[in-house]
Amino acid sequence: FVFHMCFPILVATCDTISLKGSIESSQFPSNFLFGTASSSYQFEGAFLSYGKGLNNWDVFTHMPGKIMDGSNGDIAVDQYHRYPEDLYLMDLMGVSSYRFSISWARILPKGRFGKVNRAGIDHYNNFINALLHKGIQPFVTLTHYDIPQELEGKYGAWLSSKAQEDFKYYADVCFRFFGDRVKYWSTLNEPNVVAIRGYRTGDYPPCHCSWPFGNCSSGDSEKEPFVVAHNMILSHAAAVGIYRTKYQKKQGGSIGIVMDAVWYEPISDSWEDKLAAERAQSFYMNWFLDPIIRGKYPIEMQEILQSDLPMFSKHDLEMLKNKLDFIGINHYTSYYIKDCIFSPCEPGPGASRTEGFALQTVKKNNIFIGEPTACGWIFVYPQGMEKMVTYIKERYNDIPLFITENGFCDKENPHSTMENSIHDVKRVEYMNSYLDALATAMRKGADVRGYFAWSLLDNFEWLYGYTIRFGLHYVDYATLKRTRKLSATWYKDFIANHKAHK
Ligand code: NOJ
Repeated sequence: FVFHMCFPILVATCDTISLKGSIESSQFPSNFLFGTASSSYQFEGAFLSYGKGLNNWDVFTHMPGKIMDGSNGDIAVDQYHRYPEDLYLMDLMGVSSYRFSISWARILPKGRFGKVNRAGIDHYNNFINALLHKGIQPFVTLTHYDIPQELEGKYGAWLSSKAQEDFKYYADVCFRFFGDRVKYWSTLNEPNVVAIRGYRTGDYPPCHCSWPFGNCSSGDSEKEPFVVAHNMILSHAAAVGIYRTKYQKKQGGSIGIVMDAVWYEPISDSWEDKLAAERAQSFYMNWFLDPIIRGKYPIEMQEILQSDLPMFSKHDLEMLKNKLDFIGINHYTSYYIKDCIFSPCEPGPGASRTEGFALQTVKKNNIFIGEPTACGWIFVYPQGMEKMVTYIKERYNDIPLFITENGFCDKENPHSTMENSIHDVKRVEYMNSYLDALATAMRKGADVRGYFAWSLLDNFEWLYGYTIRFGLHYVDYATLKRTRKLSATWYKDFIANHKAHK
């Protein structure tokens, strides 16, 4: 398969990319959703405008030294104002869905202790209507890391069981105002990342830290991530409960959760390393999915953490029966796992009880698990996609799945130019190979219903600020001008081919 493309602005360069074993989009079912993903804090901007309240990321990014380039999401890529243009770009690519999140503090600036912000409701109504007008299905996350700061101040947000009431209340408002048109809901984005980075390593807000291998001096309890996860699991269940009882029959949508899903490959064939890889998965993804789907924490967590793992009450177990309709996974990368229980393990992340004594490493015999990328934590290992999807299919009985994020990063350097950035052959190769691996898992029986590329545009990449680019479109941060990259053109052709085979 040879992909020809001429850059509109680089008249002199016409590229021919040869993609090894190129994937045919006709391999995906006709109703499969192809889209791109985003989130409110990383995209919207308009940070204290139109009645929005402060959220935890507003506060965090404004603290000196937290974000690599000293930036924040005050303006981000200004999607709040520029969404008509972004819709035009989506339309050009022919996507059938757009994944975005609602800013909780834009809807409820003071959480459940204040009024609903009418301007926020109007904004999302307009956005949702505009998407539907173009035939693009909104795929909506209720919270993608950002929560009203008010909740943090009142009682430590996710650390308190009261957060369940807050989230339920907020979810109810969203279902009530938008649920007539939104058919895909996700409760939480990557709660495993929030619990670990917010409450163990402390590099995300609210910066609680109990990680023995970091720079922790705050004296927070090692139990915190587990308490937070417990409250998030029950908050998910409460929101699904409201949806099931008040809205779902009338509105006819579905609801799930989105997990960060890293594939953990045992570093050797030994049973010790294989068990360690299982433990790593249990302490990362199954930590949330097992309680929601099977009503209990993974056995490995119960054995290792014992009474440090919160218990579900009778009432909780009743709520957990609400389960979910689909699992969304954000899958980018894979790591090797080495056992630290049965074999000696150097001290370091993973050698500790709270990570299930499973050491993560990216090299085996000095060779990387996959091609390293500029941003450091993503290694190109497409087999991980097939293995991850198959693993979830088997563990959770053929449950419907969406790939809610998958993407490739470039890093800015002093010599970076837009011309280099938009010539993103590596991103095309990455997407092509991961989609190919996904199709293989589906041929073997996984029920996958959609794929969302991260991301529509370059955007605010959390601790990295604007130094890392994930977009299918380039954003010039001085002017906020969007320019199509090679990958956007490739995705457009890929989707067109899929439609042609419908
Ligand atoms: C997952 C997160 O959901 C998203 O916000 C982030 O930008 C991407 N990973 C890339 O790091």
